[in-house]
Amino acid sequence: MGELHVIDHPLVQHKLTIIRDKKVGTQQFRQVVNEIATLMAYEVTRNMATEDVVVETPIAKTTQKSLTGKKVAIVPILRAGLGMVDGFLELIPAAKVGHIGMYRDHETLKPVEYFVKMPTDIDQRELFVVDPMLATGGSAIMAIDALKKRGAKQIKFVGLVAAPEGVKALQEAHPDVDIYVAGLDDYLNEDGYIVPGLGDAGDRLFGTK
Ligand code: URA
Repeated sequence: MGELHVIDHPLVQHKLTIIRDKKVGTQQFRQVVNEIATLMAYEVTRNMATEDVVVETPIAKTTQKSLTGKKVAIVPILRAGLGMVDGFLELIPAAKVGHIGMYRDHETLKPVEYFVKMPTDIDQRELFVVDPMLATGGSAIMAIDALKKRGAKQIKFVGLVAAPEGVKALQEAHPDVDIYVAGLDDYLNEDGYIVPGLGDAGDRLFGTK
């Protein structure tokens, strides 16, 4: 079963509370989403592999830790996932970025795939699939299906807010994928919005309606 990690760091919680407020406008929303994404990137990279390397300081030769250089890629689910990319790149500037386009059909609430562009070697990379809202789980499940179909083996899902329904669906569909979110909310309403949530993340990030 994919583990659920709710990042309860005070800075993350504080910033999540800021963007839940409906009075917060596009510019601040975007800025704070980026900040949360950076903090979450710090948490989700906690287990990155390191190796011993020798470094010569001005004082002495010493053996210290360095990343093994295992390749990673950030995979935003379009469009709202884009809001988390720059925050991740702050900490992992060399990461490749794959894009996966899914939209939610407003009638059926089901995700539809319309665009997939990945680095060629996703089978050798650790992939961070980012999407602010894990609602029904449909988009995340389909995005991860699409990545696995192309050879991906190591995937983590990173979001801001999840509904219990989405967590359960994702864990059942992809038990090998760990889930990282800043908040686990109460439920999904009949319109497919997370309650209390923060509204439509894509619209709030991009100033659309
Ligand atoms: N997508 C959003 O942007 N918000 C929700 O509450 C649910 C899905």
